[in-house]
Amino acid sequence: MIKIKSQEEIEKMRVAGRLVAQTLEAVVASIIPGKTRTIDLDILAEYLITEHGGTPSFKGYNGYPASICTSVNEEVVHGIPGDRILQPGDIVGLDLGAIVNGYHGDSTVTAPVGEVSDEAKNLLKVTRESLFKGIEMAKAGNRIGDIAHAIQVYAESRGYSIVRELVGHGIGSRMHEDPQVPNYGKPGHGEVLRPGMTLAIEPMVNVGDYRVKQLSDGWTYITKDRKLSAHFEHTVVITDGKPEILTLRREEGARQ
Ligand code: MF3
Ligand code: CO
Repeated sequence: MIKIKSQEEIEKMRVAGRLVAQTLEAVVASIIPGKTRTIDLDILAEYLITEHGGTPSFKGYNGYPASICTSVNEEVVHGIPGDRILQPGDIVGLDLGAIVNGYHGDSTVTAPVGEVSDEAKNLLKVTRESLFKGIEMAKAGNRIGDIAHAIQVYAESRGYSIVRELVGHGIGSRMHEDPQVPNYGKPGHGEVLRPGMTLAIEPMVNVGDYRVKQLSDGWTYITKDRKLSAHFEHTVVITDGKPEILTLRREEGARQ
């Protein structure tokens, strides 16, 4: 069942979304190539979230041990923070969720660490852009498949592949609500979008093959061919007009 949020609920989700966005900005800005460990980012994120009255939503979720996911290079999603030092040339996916007053925000950015290859730069650009192509289609009267198709067509037309095993989701008083939001599919298919629906749209894009596998830590997904992967995510509200992006960061300001 897809929950339509009231104006009061959407206002709470704005607060959660803002905290997620601001925390991600601070986490990205804190990265020192060759020095910062992924656990340092987790510690900072948890501190900032709790300091501002929120709760990290990932910690304890199905036993997940940290407040953020840090997925480096061929890691696709759900990388667990640890002692790994981020090196110049790495790309790191930073996935972060927070609850404030009972409502969730969920967002991901993949950041370059120092100077990265042209291939990595292009992957980041295309993945971010594919998210915005999906968001553009997230309007009342369209369907989930319209979002999915727009993301897929954009990423594949640039020579990349879309991860299929993992999808976006509805979000609200729970982190994962209906509907599922795949990043590939047919236009005109799936649930019809209505004002007040809140979705986490989150394309995962691979340089090589779309297939992924899970490591024995029970969380981390990597690409099967070990080539680079990137992930961007925003929490959005369907309105009567353009979708409102609840987790928009300042650097993306021109988008709204
Ligand atoms: N943004 C991820 C998702 O939507 C976060 C889940 S990580 C977990 O699924 F650790 F919390 F499971
Ligand atoms: Co999500």
